[in-house]
Amino acid sequence: MCDVVKLEREDDIAIITINNPPVNALSGRVRRELKDAFLTFQKDKKLLAAVLHGEHEAFSAGVDIHEFCKPTEAPSLPELLAIIDEIEKPVVAAIDGNALGGGLELALACHYRIAHSHAQLGCPEIKLGILPGAGGTQRLPRLIGAEAALNMITSAQFSSAREGGLTGLIDRVVDDNLLPNAKDYARHLLRTHSPIRRLSERKVNTAVLNKDFFEDYREKLANASPGFHAPLAAVDAVEAATKGKFAKGISYERSLFNECLQSEQSRAQRYLFFAQRRAPRVDFLAADTTPLSVRSIGIVGAGKMGQGITTSCLLAGYPVILVDNDSHALDVARTAIEQSLTSLLRRHKLTHKQRDAAFYRLTTSHQLAAVSETELVIEAIQEHADAKRGLFAELLTVLSTSAVIATNTSTLDINILAAGLTSPGQLVGMHFFSPAHLMQLVEVVQGDDTSPTAVATAMAVARSLKKVAVLSGGSDSLIGNRMLSVYSREADALLLEGAGVEQADNAMRQFGMAMGPFQMADLVGLEGGYHARQSRQQRGADNLPVTSPVADKLVEAERKGQRTEAGYYRYEPGSRLPVADAAVENIIASTAAALSIHRAPVDNNTIVRRLTLRLINEACKIIEEGIVQRPSDIDVIWVNGYGFPLFRGGPLCYADSLGLDNVVAELEALERSSGPRWKPSSYLTQAMASRTPLASLDTLPVDGIKRQRRA
Ligand code: CAA
Repeated sequence: MCDVVKLEREDDIAIITINNPPVNALSGRVRRELKDAFLTFQKDKKLLAAVLHGEHEAFSAGVDIHEFCKPTEAPSLPELLAIIDEIEKPVVAAIDGNALGGGLELALACHYRIAHSHAQLGCPEIKLGILPGAGGTQRLPRLIGAEAALNMITSAQFSSAREGGLTGLIDRVVDDNLLPNAKDYARHLLRTHSPIRRLSERKVNTAVLNKDFFEDYREKLANASPGFHAPLAAVDAVEAATKGKFAKGISYERSLFNECLQSEQSRAQRYLFFAQRRAPRVDFLAADTTPLSVRSIGIVGAGKMGQGITTSCLLAGYPVILVDNDSHALDVARTAIEQSLTSLLRRHKLTHKQRDAAFYRLTTSHQLAAVSETELVIEAIQEHADAKRGLFAELLTVLSTSAVIATNTSTLDINILAAGLTSPGQLVGMHFFSPAHLMQLVEVVQGDDTSPTAVATAMAVARSLKKVAVLSGGSDSLIGNRMLSVYSREADALLLEGAGVEQADNAMRQFGMAMGPFQMADLVGLEGGYHARQSRQQRGADNLPVTSPVADKLVEAERKGQRTEAGYYRYEPGSRLPVADAAVENIIASTAAALSIHRAPVDNNTIVRRLTLRLINEACKIIEEGIVQRPSDIDVIWVNGYGFPLFRGGPLCYADSLGLDNVVAELEALERSSGPRWKPSSYLTQAMASRTPLASLDTLPVDGIKRQRRA
């Protein structure tokens, strides 16, 4: 087994290299070998300075997350960093690629830092439900100030080495030859007799903090990310850095870190970290299946979805041809896309040059033939099966036989859309979420005839757009919207039984949902669901036991959501702020009376329980029916596409935290009191009987997956 850490000598400089691909995670073994290397450096009188760097164009992405569920191997990261901190000769961290989490903490324990300008620095621990646990909350505020440190820790955002240079986090930023420059820097430090700069010996500059700084910060966080524990723990730890000695702060940080690490929230968030990385893998594709090399993308439909998808593709560097037969719609789209790009510029997410280059990549046309040279066309026209089928037939006449057509449908069955096409294998689904340039999720939908190349291409393109891509088997309503459908219908039923619109939205927000069910319905628009219900009923395909009579009545009263300034709420012109509306109460009351439903108060706990239980049970039915590759994909979809709280890990992970015995018992009780829609899915009862957690990253057995049988 080759070493994961190497110590080489170049005259009086020690070069210590971490080599633990792919991201130089600080596993137990890396920490052990780093300790040995630094102790050797310390003892060797001929070595006067050390440069620490990483192979694979990376410094380190932090502690190995896999090891969090095992007992910590010695030395722990704080122990290793204490050794480096105390060395009496200068240690220079040379940062390439990423210095994240424990990786950044390692760099902070070194006495000087030099970085390549493209390097990324950050504290992503909060995303794992923990806080920096190896001195990050103590050294970082001592270096860049408490406020900047807290912003970095609680936002979990990465900043560039250039920004690090400006804040004092990085001492030198170079554009090339990092390692030679780092060695020169070490020699310069020796020549100039620079002191050993230990952050542990500094004090945090508290003079710049107003007296309520930490209280205000806590309040701001509680409003911005309600329900998350780790960010608040990070504030406690940074506050401790402003008050006491370094050693005391370190030990307080460690106790908070351990508390967070053991929490249900961290368990859920670490599971999601791996679930998101597993989701894009299509396990049943033959190893030699290669995605098309997509050089440019055609997008048909210049409406809101088309605009968002176009913006996403432009940002990823693709030339895009946006087609619509309505020239006014194309003009509106050009303006909207330019505005979206400019808004990213204003928020410092793009430079002027990047904004201009992205916009320059956009071409618009009225002619479908304009997309004939593209390898991928994404359809984003209205949700009408016949219109879509007509478009696909026409596209097949202008595109090459190897090109892929992706439909953005969210409600139509891809197999129905593919029926009758001369080449159904070229059709795949790519369901983006609105606004498509901001939302993370893309559901890639495989119909019965979709070719492996089309699936691989859609997955690869979605990833290149920096989206979380998840595969869904061809099914009416896909995975996410199918669950949304039962969730919305249950929410509608709760209204009829006596719950209030605002009450239910507040209850779900307190549970941690980004939005309540009715706010979300208004935002998305009520028409899509209405047409989908009508279409299913007409086809006799609506076997869902609860319909959405209130939603239907609202649409029939022209209350179609935010777009019409009225839905479950009303909206002032130009405002997105929901305002309670007595007219809606009247519609609910009269609908309930017409259905002979007696309305009585419903408590918040019942609202949360019923809505989440419906989600959990439907998720299990989806697994049972074999239209998802692995259970964790469902959690990835609901967290990234529907605002399910990240700290609960998704509906299946949440079910595990409740205990499957309890979930089944509650469903059975509801089945007895309210009918068969609550019958627990057999997948759920089997998981309970075999004591198997629902939240699993494992690909389901071949027999359980329709797609795998076909492939
Ligand atoms: N530990 C273990 N594995 C890790 C890892 C880590 N810290 N970071 C990344 N990986 C793994 C990923 O799981 C993935 O593995 P598979 O190929 O088996 O799926 C592989 O490395 C590549 O990762 P990505 O697919 O994410 O690659 P990317 O190029 O898109 O992104 C990255 C690279 C920016 C480093 C990203 O992986 C990332 O953000 N990693 C997480 C970093 C992090 O959270 N660090 C903090 C750890 S906690 C800590 O250090 C606590 C402490 O204070 C003591």
